[in-house]
Amino acid sequence: MSTERQPYIPPKVATCGADFLSQLASVRHVRANPLKTWPRAMYEARFYRRPPMPILWVMDVDALHEIYVARAEEFPPSKIAHRMFRPLWRNGVATSEGEEWRWQRRAAAPAFSPKAVEAIVPAARHATAHLSKLWLSPTHTPDIEDDLGDLATSVVFETLMGDGLGVDEAKFRRDARAFSLSVNAVNLADVFQTPDWTRPLLGQTLHKPSDALRAHVAQALAHRQSGQAGSLLDMLATATDPETGQTITPERLQNNITGMLPAGRDTTANWLAWILYLIAHDLPTQERMVAEIDAVVGTAPFGAEHLEKLPFTSAVMMEALRLFPPAAQIAREAAHDTDLGGQKVRKGMFIIIPIYAIQRHRDYWDQPDAFLPERFLPGNFDPRTHRYSFMPFGAGERICLGMAFAKTEALAVLVTLLQRLRVSAPEHEPPMDFTFGGVLRAKGGIRLNIAPRD
Ligand code: HEM
Repeated sequence: MSTERQPYIPPKVATCGADFLSQLASVRHVRANPLKTWPRAMYEARFYRRPPMPILWVMDVDALHEIYVARAEEFPPSKIAHRMFRPLWRNGVATSEGEEWRWQRRAAAPAFSPKAVEAIVPAARHATAHLSKLWLSPTHTPDIEDDLGDLATSVVFETLMGDGLGVDEAKFRRDARAFSLSVNAVNLADVFQTPDWTRPLLGQTLHKPSDALRAHVAQALAHRQSGQAGSLLDMLATATDPETGQTITPERLQNNITGMLPAGRDTTANWLAWILYLIAHDLPTQERMVAEIDAVVGTAPFGAEHLEKLPFTSAVMMEALRLFPPAAQIAREAAHDTDLGGQKVRKGMFIIIPIYAIQRHRDYWDQPDAFLPERFLPGNFDPRTHRYSFMPFGAGERICLGMAFAKTEALAVLVTLLQRLRVSAPEHEPPMDFTFGGVLRAKGGIRLNIAPRD
C-alpha cells in the first residue's frame, strides 16, 4: 500500500501513565470514559493486568481466537453487561445465553441477512434526503451525531416497526434520544460488581427509558394484528427456528424489537458521525469518494445494485470503523479457573477485549493512528490476517446480528449525503476531548461546516 501525501492523523484518546499514581488518578475517568484509563501498553503488549482488579485485557490475536471461537463456552458474555441491558432486552437475543440465545439467534438471522436488509435502502435514502435539507437550512445548527441519531431512529422505525402503525414518530424519536443519553455513563455497580439493589444508587439504570421504548413497540405490534406492517417486522414476527420449528412469542418479539432500536441507532449514528468528521478533515479523500459516487451512482437514487460497486467509499467506511469503533470494548467472563495464552485466569474474572486499542495496535497495523482508507482497498486488505485485529462487529457466534443492516444503511446514507452536500472542518476547533457512553463520542458533539454541492 502506498500513499503519496502525508496522511491525516485524527485526535486520539490520551493514554494514561503506567505508574501506580497515574493509574490511581485515572480512576476518576472510569465512569465518563474508561478508555482514558488505558496505558500505552494496551497498544503495544498482548495482555494487560492491573492488580488487584480481577480484569485481564486481551489484545493477543491467538487468545482472541480462543475466546471467541475455540473455547467460546469458557468465556461467555459478561453477566454485568447483560445485567445493564436487561431492562431493555429482557429475555431477548442480546441478553440471553445457551439454548435460549441460540434458537432466537437462528430464528432472527434470516431477517438480518444481506439480501433481506436491502429492504432498508429506500427508508435510509428518504431519511437522508430529509436530513440534508435540514443541514442546509440556515436556521439549523447541526449537531452531527444527534442529527444522525434521529436519522438512524427513522430508518429503524420505518423498517422494523413499519409505516402507519399508529406510533407518534416525533415522540418515539425523543424517547430514543432519551435512551441514548441514559447510557452516557457507566454504572459503578457494573464496574465494582455490587448487588443489583445498589444500581440505582451508583448511576443510571435503563428501566425508565427502556419502558418508554417498549410502549411504542407494544402499540406498533397491536396495530400490526390489524394487518399493516413493514417487511422486516413481518419477518421477525413470523421468525421460526429452522432446527426446532419453535416460533417467536409476542412477548419475545416485543423484547427483541425494543432492544434492536437503540442497538441500531447509536452505533450506526456514531459510525457515520466519525466518517463525516474524518472526511471533513481530509478533503482529498472526500473528493475521491465524491468522484467514485459520481461515476457509479451519479444523480440516480442509491440502490441495492450499488452496494458492492463503491470500493473506495467502502474502504473509507472500514477505516473509520477501525479508528473509531462504536463498540470500543467488549466484555467476557471466565466460566472457571483456566489458562489463556499463558495467563492465569480465575473463575468470574473479567476479560476485556479493547477493540479500540487492538485496532490501533503497533503489532497489527502500519501507521496505526493514521487515517489511511487505502489499506482497506481490495488487494491491500486480507480479512484472514486481520480476523482478530479488525473486529468492529465482534467475532465468533455472537458477532453483531445487525452487521449487514448497519453496513447497508451507512453506505446508503453516506452516498445520499455526498450527492447533496460537502463537509469541512470549522476554522477554529477546540482540542478534541472524548467521552464514552456505550460508544466513543466527541465531548460537546461534532461540529462541521456543511455546504451544498456546487
Ligand atoms: C456500526 C454499527 C454497529 C456496530 C459497530 C455493532 C457492534 C456490535 C458488536 C461488537 C456486537 C458483539 C458484542 C459482543 O460480542 O459481546 C454486536 C452485537 C449485536 N448487535 Fe450490533 N453493531 C452495530 C449495529 C447493529 C444494528 C444496526 C443492529 C440491529 C438493527 C445490531 C444488533 C445487534 C445484536 C442483536 C447483537 C447481539 C447478538 C448476539 O448476542 O447474538 N447491531 N454489535
